[in-house]
Amino acid sequence: MQDHTLALTLELDWLQCVLDRRLEQHFQQQDLDLAAAGPLPELPPGSALGELIVRLQLSPAERVVLALALAPHLRPAMLDLLFMRNQNLDRGFTEFGGLKAQGHGGFLPTGETAAFLVAGEDLAARVALLACFDAGHAFARETLLSLETPASGEPQLSGALLASSEALQRLCSGTARKPDFSAQFPAKRISSPLGWEDLVLAPEVMDEVQQLCAWMREGAHLMQDWGLARALKPGYRALFHGPPGTGKTLTATLIGQVVEADVYRIDLSMVVSKYIGETEKNLARVFDQAQSRRWILFFDEADALFGKRGAANTANDHHANQEIAYLLQRVEDFPGMVILASNLRSNIDEAFSRRFQSMVYFPMPDAEQRLRLWQQMLAPEHLDADVDLELLAQRHELAGGAIANVIRHAALKAVRAGRQQVRMQELRAGLARELRKEGRTL
Ligand SMILES: Nc1ncnc2c1ncn2[C@@H]1O[C@H](COP(=O)(O)OP(=O)(O)O)[C@@H](O)[C@H]1O
Ligand SMILES: [Mg+2]
Repeated sequence: MQDHTLALTLELDWLQCVLDRRLEQHFQQQDLDLAAAGPLPELPPGSALGELIVRLQLSPAERVVLALALAPHLRPAMLDLLFMRNQNLDRGFTEFGGLKAQGHGGFLPTGETAAFLVAGEDLAARVALLACFDAGHAFARETLLSLETPASGEPQLSGALLASSEALQRLCSGTARKPDFSAQFPAKRISSPLGWEDLVLAPEVMDEVQQLCAWMREGAHLMQDWGLARALKPGYRALFHGPPGTGKTLTATLIGQVVEADVYRIDLSMVVSKYIGETEKNLARVFDQAQSRRWILFFDEADALFGKRGAANTANDHHANQEIAYLLQRVEDFPGMVILASNLRSNIDEAFSRRFQSMVYFPMPDAEQRLRLWQQMLAPEHLDADVDLELLAQRHELAGGAIANVIRHAALKAVRAGRQQVRMQELRAGLARELRKEGRTL
C-alpha cells in the first residue's frame, strides 16, 4: 500500500516541477524541454503506477498526461496556479485550458492543459499528443483516462481530461476493483461454487463447449500467429438455447472458471432505459471494460434482442429499437467472447443466427445424465434407506434446474421434521410440485 502512494507522491512532485518550469518558460517565451523539468522520478517497482509505466512503456509526455488526470483527485489545489489571469486581457489564459468545477473548488484539467504542459507552442508535439486520446491507445484500452467529448463545434482538446475511477482505485491501492452493478454499469459478475466436473452434458454438447474454451485459450494465437485474422472476423459469438434449467447459465459460468476469465451477465431490462442516450453510454462502459479485461459477456434471456424488431408505434418503442440496434452492433463488433442464452429457438431471427460462430443446443438430460445430476446434488449420507434415485431418474424427465428445486423442497421438509435424511415420499412430493409448475402430472 505504501509503495503505491509513494509512487503517486513522487510522480505528482515531478508533475509539480514540470508545471513550474513550464510556466516559467512560457512567460520567458522559451521552448519547453520536459527533461529540463527535473529527472523522471524512479518509482518503487512494486507500486501499481511503477508497474503500469514499465508495462505500457509510457513516455515522459504520457506520464504527464496521466499524472495530470490524477492530480485533481490526489492534490486538489495543485493546479490552482493555472487560474492566473492574463493582465493584458483581464481574463484567464486560453492556452492553460481547464474547467472550473461545480462542487470542487479547484482547476480541472482539459486536453488543452495537457497540451500546454507537454507541447507548449510546439505544434508537432501538440499533434503527437492527440494519439494519447485515440481509442487504440493504452489509456483507452485499459480504461485509465479519457478526454470528454467537448461541446459541439469546440476544439477537441477543450474536453475535460478524466481519470477513470478504476484507474484511481488501481493506482492508489494496487487492486483492481470489480465494478459493482448499477444503472451506470448494467452488468454483474457471475460465479458458481460448482466446478467443471459437476457439469453434466451430452458428449456432443460438451464438444461444442470445449470449442469455446479452446477459442478463449488459443484464439489470439490462431488469429496472430496463424494469420487467421485476415480471414476471420474478430470475436466469438455463441448462442446457447434449449429448455430452462438445462445448464446454459452454469456452462457459461464454468467456461469462465476454467479459462480464468470473468463472466459478466448483462441485464437486458436495464439496457432499454428511459433516458435516451444514457443506455448507450452505460453499455459502452461495459463493452470497453470487457474488451480490456478479457471478460466473457453473457446475455441471459436474450430473446428480447433477436425478436423481429417490432413496429415503432410510440417514441418509446422507437427508442427501444434504437437501443437494441446499437447493442446488436456492439455484440457483432466485440473482439472477445459473447454468449447469448435463450429458452426458445424459434424466436431467433434468421438473419441474426447467421452471425453466431456457434449455436449450442442444450437438450433435456437423458435418464443416465439425470441420475448423475441427482447423485451429485444429494450426498448419500442425506438419503433415507428407501430412496431410489435410479427409479426417479428413469421415470421423470426433468432438467437439472428442476431436479435442484425438488431436492430443495424435500430437504426442507426433512430438516423441518428434525431429520438429516430425505425420504422417498418427500422427493415424490417435490417432484409433483415441480411437474405441476410445468403443467405436467406425476
Ligand atoms: N447440465 C447440467 N449439469 C449440472 N448441473 C446442472 C445442469 N443443468 C442444470 N443444472 C443445475 O441447475 C441449476 C440451474 O441451471 P441453469 O444453468 O441456470 O439453467 P439454464 O440457464 O439453462 O436455465 C444449475 O445451477 C445447476 O445446479
Ligand atoms: Mg439461465
